[in-house]
Amino acid sequence: MDRLVIRGGKRIEGSVQICGAKNAALPQIAASLLSSEPLELRNVPEVTDVNTMLSLMRELGVVATHGAGRSLVLDAGGARNAQAPYELVRRMRASILVLAPMLARFGSARVSLPGGCAIGARPIDQHLKALESLGANVEMEGGYIHAWTNGNGLRGNRIVLSSPSVGATETALMAAVLACGESEILNGARDPEISDLARCLVAMGALIQGVGTHRILVQGVDALHGARHELITDRIEAGTYAVAAAITGGHLEILGAHLEHLGSVVAVLESAGVQIWPTDRGLMVVRSGTLKSVDVSTEPYPGFPTDLQAQFMALMAIASGASVIRETVFESRFMHVPELGRLGANISLQGSTALVRGVERLHGAEVMATDLRASVSLVLAALVAEGETTVNRVYHLDRGYESLDRKLVQCGADIRRVVG
Ligand code: EPZ
Repeated sequence: MDRLVIRGGKRIEGSVQICGAKNAALPQIAASLLSSEPLELRNVPEVTDVNTMLSLMRELGVVATHGAGRSLVLDAGGARNAQAPYELVRRMRASILVLAPMLARFGSARVSLPGGCAIGARPIDQHLKALESLGANVEMEGGYIHAWTNGNGLRGNRIVLSSPSVGATETALMAAVLACGESEILNGARDPEISDLARCLVAMGALIQGVGTHRILVQGVDALHGARHELITDRIEAGTYAVAAAITGGHLEILGAHLEHLGSVVAVLESAGVQIWPTDRGLMVVRSGTLKSVDVSTEPYPGFPTDLQAQFMALMAIASGASVIRETVFESRFMHVPELGRLGANISLQGSTALVRGVERLHGAEVMATDLRASVSLVLAALVAEGETTVNRVYHLDRGYESLDRKLVQCGADIRRVVG
């Protein structure tokens, strides 16, 4: 298993290009199942999670071909109604996103239950409720979800989500676009990745209004056609590099970042003493003065994203004062806390709340990555820790960040990847 050896003390400076959003790519790859004509996606990030999704798509008979640059052509013309196997689904729970397009296209689907992961139980009850609202029958058989319609396909209806689940909103959208009649999705998530999925579906011929609001209207159509769509950039990658510049007292232009996708994050970082402003290429991030402690509570978009909680905690570990960080989206997303503690951070946990008392300095140590965002928070802390830090199991990192170590080295970091 690869590991990263990092010597702290270098400022992150210069510029970095962020990639297409992983969490936009995964649902849109699944959405290719909705049409018998090819879907071409552009700006697709080269990360493990995308490769895992492509393995699942090939299992379902989709022909996936990488093109020039970061383009990907997905041809589901020969897709078959095979089941999505446990072996693949357990590796990445976003695999559940194939359930709705399989059901909408073929009238039935069998997908393994995804199971939990390091950050929580990750139930899918809202996905299944959304499909049942459109007339699907759903049963569990031997760890698999079996969903089917009674011959006349899905029927448009009102879908009311009990909480703004990103995945359940994407499931509802991908089912409704081929349902007969109008569907109304209430209390859906409003993340930019969902708006991007909707733009992709509209390019394929879907009729969708109100995306990005709490009320989405979909007019079902008989079939979707092929399309070409460019993914939005990855706001979580952008926020991660913003913290890298902030924690090292550097200055970094983040190319391709959009202020409107990072609203609450920018406000919080500015309160912590970071200067951020838009440029014609993205966002400029500078921290030259004292880092101040700021309290944060993660919330559904446009609130502070749970996917940046671990990274922000690393920043607060060296801020002056104490910061209260509440994780309200997932039930156990603090796996990075004991590892940050090994680097000298002073963090105490009380349920879903962490109290981070800023320390003068962190010290290098051997640490273990446990999940995607926890692993990057350890890298960020190591950038400013005295001495050498080894971050083990960086396969977690490679799931969602394309060439993170290489990009940070290009911005001045002292990082060595030890393969094997
Ligand atoms: C998406 O996961 C992202 N993944 C996650 O990013 C992100 O952390 C999360 O949204 C929240 O923003 C992808 O887009 C591939 P949810 P998702 O459904 O869809 C509960 C990363 O690091 N819930 O919005 O699984 C759930 O348990 C990953 O890139 C139900 O109870 O998140 C959680 O507590 C990690 N029932 C909360 O809702 C359901 O049916 C939010 O989950 C569905 C969800």
